[in-house]
Amino acid sequence: MEPIYEGKAKKLFTTDDPEVLRMEYKDDATAFNAQKKAQFENKGKLNKAITLLMYQMMEEKGVPTHLVSDVDEVNLMVKRVDILMVEVIVRNLAAGSFLKRTGMAEGTEFKIPIVEFSYKSDELGDPLINVDYAREMEIATPEDCAFLKKQALVINDVMTEFFLECGMKLVDFKIEFGKDSSGQIVLADEVSPDTCRLWDATTGKKMDKDRFREDLGGVMEGYEEVLARLEKARG
Ligand code: TMP
Ligand code: ASP
Repeated sequence: MEPIYEGKAKKLFTTDDPEVLRMEYKDDATAFNAQKKAQFENKGKLNKAITLLMYQMMEEKGVPTHLVSDVDEVNLMVKRVDILMVEVIVRNLAAGSFLKRTGMAEGTEFKIPIVEFSYKSDELGDPLINVDYAREMEIATPEDCAFLKKQALVINDVMTEFFLECGMKLVDFKIEFGKDSSGQIVLADEVSPDTCRLWDATTGKKMDKDRFREDLGGVMEGYEEVLARLEKARG
């Protein structure tokens, strides 16, 4: 079957159920808006397993997601949703593009988490936007944005606590949301070391895609360690 959508790290296929799509996690990795590309054996498998576990954990904590069921090593069944063209980033510690924008030192802890919006557009390089931009671009209403911010902070609390249980600091992350057929906004896309910065809580070792972005080596070893710790915490 041909994918109905192919992104940088995942493909989407239709299923017999019009309300359900199959999401396939690929081994492709990109960084800096696809200027840097590579393939990592098992990345799709690891990110699928991590996302599944994180979504199950979040559903138990009352956070609705697009997850329907597990399929196989690299596939999940997900609810068909309309993805909002606003990406939401939450930052607990200074890292990544925040450093370039502010000159602040990496690892500076924020007193209150920072929430950012960006426009989901590969062509434009996912530029930073705000509530007024989203309103005038007609990609999200001010009410939607208020909900996204509130929900992103709830998700940050739930994930920060869980990762800490697993001996990791949640530095920052990007999430996407979709509207389902009933109009409910649910967490969609993936939650993985591609989309979260994770540092070992004691050594500060980077365990996420920054290992690829910064050429640190041991990229999949980092992802494997993340999954092993999450599985251990889930029992
Ligand atoms: P940034 O510091 O590069 O803006 O990234 C913030 C967080 O968002 C980080 O955890 C990595 C994640 N991220 C994505 O998932 N996709 C992207 O395209 C970018 C730029 C960042
Ligand atoms: N995912 C983005 C890209 O492909 C950026 C990143 O994660 O650094 O290029």
